[in-house]
Amino acid sequence: MCGIFGYIGEKNAVDIIFKGLKKLEYRGYDSAGIAVVVDKELHIRRSVGKLCNLGLSLKENPISANIGIGHTRWATHGRPSKKNAHPHTDSAKTVVIVHNGIIENYVELKAELQKDGQEFKSETDTEVITHLIKKYYEDNLFCAVQKTLSRVRGSYALGIVSKDEPDKIICVRQDAPLIIGVGVGENFMASDIPALLSYTRDMIFLENGDIAEITAEKIVIKNIKGDIINREIKNIRWDTVQAEKNGYKHFMLKEIFEQPRTIEDTFRGRIYPDEGRVYIEEVKLEKEYIKNISNIYIVACGTSYHSGLVSKFLFESFAKIPTEVDIASEFRYRDVILDEKTLVVVVSQSGETADTLAALRLAKTKGCQILAVCNVVGSSISREAMHVIYTHCGPEIGVASTKAFTGQVTALYILALDLACKREILTIGELKKYLKELWEIPLKINKFLKNAKFVHDIAKVFASKRDFLYLGRHINYPVALEGALKIKEISYIHAEGYAAGEMKHGPIALIDKSMPIVAIVIKGRIYEKIISNIEEAKARGGIIIAVADQSDKEIGNKSDYVIYVPETDEFVSPLMTVIPLQLLAYYISVILSCDVDQPRNLAKSVTVE
Ligand code: AGP
Repeated sequence: MCGIFGYIGEKNAVDIIFKGLKKLEYRGYDSAGIAVVVDKELHIRRSVGKLCNLGLSLKENPISANIGIGHTRWATHGRPSKKNAHPHTDSAKTVVIVHNGIIENYVELKAELQKDGQEFKSETDTEVITHLIKKYYEDNLFCAVQKTLSRVRGSYALGIVSKDEPDKIICVRQDAPLIIGVGVGENFMASDIPALLSYTRDMIFLENGDIAEITAEKIVIKNIKGDIINREIKNIRWDTVQAEKNGYKHFMLKEIFEQPRTIEDTFRGRIYPDEGRVYIEEVKLEKEYIKNISNIYIVACGTSYHSGLVSKFLFESFAKIPTEVDIASEFRYRDVILDEKTLVVVVSQSGETADTLAALRLAKTKGCQILAVCNVVGSSISREAMHVIYTHCGPEIGVASTKAFTGQVTALYILALDLACKREILTIGELKKYLKELWEIPLKINKFLKNAKFVHDIAKVFASKRDFLYLGRHINYPVALEGALKIKEISYIHAEGYAAGEMKHGPIALIDKSMPIVAIVIKGRIYEKIISNIEEAKARGGIIIAVADQSDKEIGNKSDYVIYVPETDEFVSPLMTVIPLQLLAYYISVILSCDVDQPRNLAKSVTVE
């Protein structure tokens, strides 16, 4: 999963592509490169490491052009190195390409090309495409691309330029996102919306199988047979400020502080607490179908999987529907029992996660209704699902998900209440109460964030620890998993999330007097139980950092540190309790001088299996 960007027009392509890649760097950052055409010659610059290295190389060796393509890489085939960095070209330096995805049959294609005498310069799967295009290239780049695509299998978003046809970029999409930015006298292509926002809000989301030919004046989209395809131009309302740091030191911090607004944006227009009404315009499930749903399957990866785990409690308690939550990469290879009465809910911030998309497609073949909870409009998952509830979080740039989690939990909470209403399970009084609880959450989070400095003080005490335990129960058990994931991914500290009641079945052996244990201990049906669990941990010397309701007068006696949060109903509490855990991970990462927004080995959107 990498970021690709292309420009054609009158301005300096190099500057525009470099700025575009900067916005895409979250997708991969182990090497980067740019290719342009000047006077019918290809010029390529590539560097290992982050984009700033490419910036230095461009400063030392400047170039300007009116057409070009660029790439920021997250290695799949071939280690991060200059020779594996994109763009890749054929031996005669006629054609140059950037690629996001994986060519599954590259081994056999490479063998075939080598047999023809072709030399390979990189260890990448991508390079086979350049040689194939050159092989089929007579005088029409589009035709050569058509022939090449009929030979390759896998996922790919491609930007292709030829020195012999320097007035066009060919853009191809198959199972990897690619968007065309529509300008005036100039056009763009990019892997994601934020990279285009400084130039245009008018965008075309390519679909699988689309091959677009873009010139400065025209965009023509065809399928592999060469038939012209019409694609709608969508106007994107995200503004550029939303996609910038806005004065915060890191995107992650900005995104943590945005949550009161993004939660509100996600429920606004969908809930009416005074009337006891939920209205989700996008969900067109028939009332009769809803009454007969036999079970719900929630499928997702990473943080989105954790928000799915939270919602299991909501679907079961509110709507009384048996619910299972599965990791997409597991779900897609099991013999899952599904039928038309199963509602499959896929959860994905990016809408491009390969495993989640594959799970969605599998569920479709079983005749299930598919509902997606997604943040990115026009993404593959949002297009292929039958119903989509968008989380209105705006672009999430930090690799560690924060506002996506709370947006997803909000959307799933509303969905569970909607299903409960249509199944006539909750009374109007209960519904009003649960809606009011959600309505009040943004204010409560704001209140907490205003006094969050205390979390920084705790981070200073514990930043040198090498292990953490996170404990929760019931609906806050998934929050413990999410807290542990956050600290692992951005601070590289080993952390385990556990259901607190499970401790005594093994993990309690890990506890000694140097082990920090973050326990979520808010009031609710299992409050007494988790108190017993932290006493067990304390008795073995563990250092307890409790996340507790501000009204809890007892917790101070049972723990070493307490992070007090405003009191909420237990069913909305994950929206509150996750905030200090996000902040704790953030501050520890900063103290350890880790790369908060672009942690090692990770990428924002996992579009490969
Ligand atoms: C979490 O901080 C990560 N960014 C990661 O686990 C992420 O949630 C996962 O890759 C799923 O992504 P998606 O929501 O875009 O499908």
